[in-house]
Amino acid sequence: MEEKDLGNDLAKVLITEEQIQAKIRELAEQIDADYAGKDLLLVAVLKGAVMVMADLSRALRSHVSLDFMAVSSYGSGTKSSGVVRILKDLDTDISGKHVLIVEDIVDSGLTLSWLIDNLRTRQPASLEVCAIMRKPEAVKTEIDVRYIGFDIPNEFVVGYGLDYSEKYRNLPFVGTLAPHVYSN
Ligand code: XMP
Ligand code: MG
Repeated sequence: MEEKDLGNDLAKVLITEEQIQAKIRELAEQIDADYAGKDLLLVAVLKGAVMVMADLSRALRSHVSLDFMAVSSYGSGTKSSGVVRILKDLDTDISGKHVLIVEDIVDSGLTLSWLIDNLRTRQPASLEVCAIMRKPEAVKTEIDVRYIGFDIPNEFVVGYGLDYSEKYRNLPFVGTLAPHVYSN
């Protein structure tokens, strides 16, 4: 197996592991305060949000439940189309529950907007979003992301759950790839 520092695959580190973990603690504090005394269900979409889910849930002081969905978004390459199919649905009935969607990155917001509409029909008591990263496109959409980690430039990023061809998800930081990686 290749070593995880991945030699010269990365062009630059955009967000360090320390910055991510500090932000996670900050977000967790806000979430703890906002949901004090309430039962909270965290919902993450596989696979990108797995790292945020693991870190955020452990940074919370309150007891929470975790659930996961897997969806496939029809679209080519690195762009999503907003047409989404559920591959694995939630295990839990969310009606009457306080639900917080935990996301890796909001780009066009198409996937998230579909997810919000879908979950809203199941009548949760409340529905909010926490995303560790947001790209400029997302700021233009109507999606209200209550908890946001970092606004990042409009570049394709990998690490901390995000992949290029299923690789780089297990980097503890976020970075951009060197051009030669794409031409391989
Ligand atoms: P939309 O456009 O629907 O996209 O908001 C959300 C999903 O697209 C993926 N995505 C990325 N994946 N690097 C990645 O590895 C990126 O820079 C990137 N931008 C969007 C991701 O799965 C996200 O949930
Ligand atoms: Mg992906």
